[in-house]
Amino acid sequence: MLVVSSATLATVSCGGLLAGLSLLSLRPAYDKGPSHFQVQLERIAPGTYVEVEWLGRPVVIVRPDRRMVEDLQSIDAFVLGCAPLPNGGMPGAFVYERVSTYKGCGLEHIPAGSPLAPTSFQWRGGWRDACHIGYWDYAGRAVRTDGRAVQLANLVSPEYTLIGNRIDLKRKN
Ligand code: FES
Repeated sequence: MLVVSSATLATVSCGGLLAGLSLLSLRPAYDKGPSHFQVQLERIAPGTYVEVEWLGRPVVIVRPDRRMVEDLQSIDAFVLGCAPLPNGGMPGAFVYERVSTYKGCGLEHIPAGSPLAPTSFQWRGGWRDACHIGYWDYAGRAVRTDGRAVQLANLVSPEYTLIGNRIDLKRKN
């Protein structure tokens, strides 16, 4: 069962700018321990994201559009392992927990053009762990920290499947 409540969420436009639109906050009722939580991609405007709470964790679901994919591909050389986007081409969605892979604190949204963005390349928007100066893009890829002591890992995805236009979050067994 889903409990749908209205709330203001940060959303990103295809250019990575904070649009400040209001979307639905989707909160699963997991008191009884459901094993699944489904989100229809049609409910997410292309080039934006929603955040849902799943098993007590903030999970971001990004629905990229062509421009966002091009933006992400333009920074392939600056992410951990120069990793190309998962699924190649035009992924249906990126799904990950908005928590630092250092010690698990919540990340802050850093849109394109923010003075808090890294300066070594053109930032296209994403997330930051302020205390540990870690950055991730909208695909959840860690930005490389050449020369620093700690290289933070890519953001962690919950267990999920993408079937057609539906994201199905699953409880791990
Ligand atoms: S993991 Fe806690 S602030 Fe970096």
